Amino acid sequence: MERWEVWESATPSEEELPMRAFASIRNQAYRVAVEAALEAGRILRWHFQRGLEIRYKGEIDLVTEADLASERAVLARIQGAFPDHRVLAEESGETDRDSPWLWVVDPLDGTTNFAHGFPVFAVSIALLHEGQRELAVVYDVMRDELFTARRGEGAFLNGRPIRVTRTPRLEAALLVTGFPYDRRESPMDNTREFIALLKRCHGVLRVGSAALDLASVAAGRLDGYWEFQLSPWDLAAGALLVEEAGGRVTTPLGDPLPPLGTDIVATNGLIHAELLEVLAGCRAAMG
Ligand code: IPD
Ligand code: CA
Ligand code: CA
Repeated sequence: MERWEVWESATPSEEELPMRAFASIRNQAYRVAVEAALEAGRILRWHFQRGLEIRYKGEIDLVTEADLASERAVLARIQGAFPDHRVLAEESGETDRDSPWLWVVDPLDGTTNFAHGFPVFAVSIALLHEGQRELAVVYDVMRDELFTARRGEGAFLNGRPIRVTRTPRLEAALLVTGFPYDRRESPMDNTREFIALLKRCHGVLRVGSAALDLASVAAGRLDGYWEFQLSPWDLAAGALLVEEAGGRVTTPLGDPLPPLGTDIVATNGLIHAELLEVLAGCRAAMG
């Protein structure tokens, strides 16, 4: 089975033309994103199997040769196909262009896992139009799992539709979270929240890739995820996957997630209010 579906084409009316133009860009972008993610995945696999050269961005914030090679490959595809679009990518920053289209790219999400030889990491690519998340591709490189979504079209894993779980209560939920890179210095280290939620549910995982945490919620493998102080490229694609899989995505305060939001709660929807309540309790306790 192909990993993406082909859209039907029919003769458009005049009113439909702008919508058709939009859909056509989005479809082309979708194919470019899928190809870019698969190519980046090949590069990452090659580097992973060969061994690594690690540099430090911070005391525990790593960057490898592979992050850079993967990003070069993704950006070459995107900028080759859409030279006018804006791009925000982790290793090279934001391009200075005026366009309603913004690509948000994490060429290797899960660098710490990667650098330690733990085979759980992903490529994450999102496309926003006027601040709205329009398409998402997250590629789990070592499991060869390709998660995709287009707004309004549902979410897919290797071409098959995925849905969030139906777990009704937090007490029966399996959650996942992550901890910020500045946790050695900052009191906002998510440990209070981690303990509070650990005592309320079946378990809390720490996988080490925000993109895969979100993809796992979308695929109904986990019931909920929260994390603070991420970067937009960690979660832009994953957030759309969860929404399109029927889940709910907000900030930890319960507000809509901004286009380039960095603090997130994403669940199956059913446990969302309970999860937000526990986080609010932690905030209140910290004063
Ligand atoms: C990290 C991962 C991790 C999350 C960190 C992110 P990176 O991204 O998504 O799960 O806890 O906050 O920075 O550095 O591996 O691209
Ligand atoms: Ca990341
Ligand atoms: Ca990264």
